[in-house]
Amino acid sequence: MSITQAILPVAGLGTRFLPWTKSVPKELLPLGNRPIIAHLVHECLDQGIDDICFVISRGKEGIPEYFQRHPELEAELAGRGKSHLLEELSRYDNVRFHTVYQDQQLGDGHAILQAKDWVDSDYIAVLFGDDLFTESDSALKQLQDALHSLSEDEKGAIIALENIPLEHTPRYGIVSVEKEHDAKPRIKKLNGLVEKPKSEDAPSTLGIVGRYIIPRSTVEILPNVEGMEGGEIRLIDALIAQLGSEHMYGYECEGKRIDTGNPEGYKHAVNIFCE
Ligand code: UTP
Repeated sequence: MSITQAILPVAGLGTRFLPWTKSVPKELLPLGNRPIIAHLVHECLDQGIDDICFVISRGKEGIPEYFQRHPELEAELAGRGKSHLLEELSRYDNVRFHTVYQDQQLGDGHAILQAKDWVDSDYIAVLFGDDLFTESDSALKQLQDALHSLSEDEKGAIIALENIPLEHTPRYGIVSVEKEHDAKPRIKKLNGLVEKPKSEDAPSTLGIVGRYIIPRSTVEILPNVEGMEGGEIRLIDALIAQLGSEHMYGYECEGKRIDTGNPEGYKHAVNIFCE
């Protein structure tokens, strides 16, 4: 099973970065000489995923534009003999980029739903823009390797997990573990998911972080979970609805995760990625 498609929902308002995000999407903040969003795209390309759909909102067109060709600039660089820069710019020449709009921020599941007609493979990677991982094996690679190690009839959705402090459970989706994989205990078979539980109600301290591999069926049932939470469509509700029908796994990722979606986390990411 090879995964070739990824959805990158980047339509959020970015309120934690206001007023900067009034005019510039936080996903275009630089880490080194590349914007954050390029780090996510490279995570996909490194895994052989070359069909990428951005879900954006109005005003965030700079995100897909970054990955488009720029013939005038290329001609200028060629004229100046800047072949190393041309090579860098040609990195995306064979990648298929697609953009869809989310007109209202009605949740992460609603964002993914906007890409439904574009999806044409059995499994799709989903990467949320704020989370970056420091491990040399990216979180997406770790998920993909975990899925590959399961037999064909065991395969299903797999979600990146992080063991978080108990007092932080109200900030995360938290999973309930049925059992750990015998040979690879980082792979957890799940029998429950709950959004942002109070610490005393949390079934574990394993929190969902921004990488998923989901079967196409998850995208297809998103309209059925509409409005379950204040009019939002949440990915977690679709996964909860599928607990009886699809195998569901979590993978406790190796490495450190950085939330670049707020100024403090971004500062930390700059220190780590630009040292
Ligand atoms: P967040 O909840 O962090 O929202 O979404 P945000 O708007 O990016 O940032 P804050 O909280 O207002 O500062 C997590 C991810 O889901 C996407 C966001 O773009 C981000 O990558 N998202 C969220 C959407 O694409 N659409 C939505 O309706 C909600």
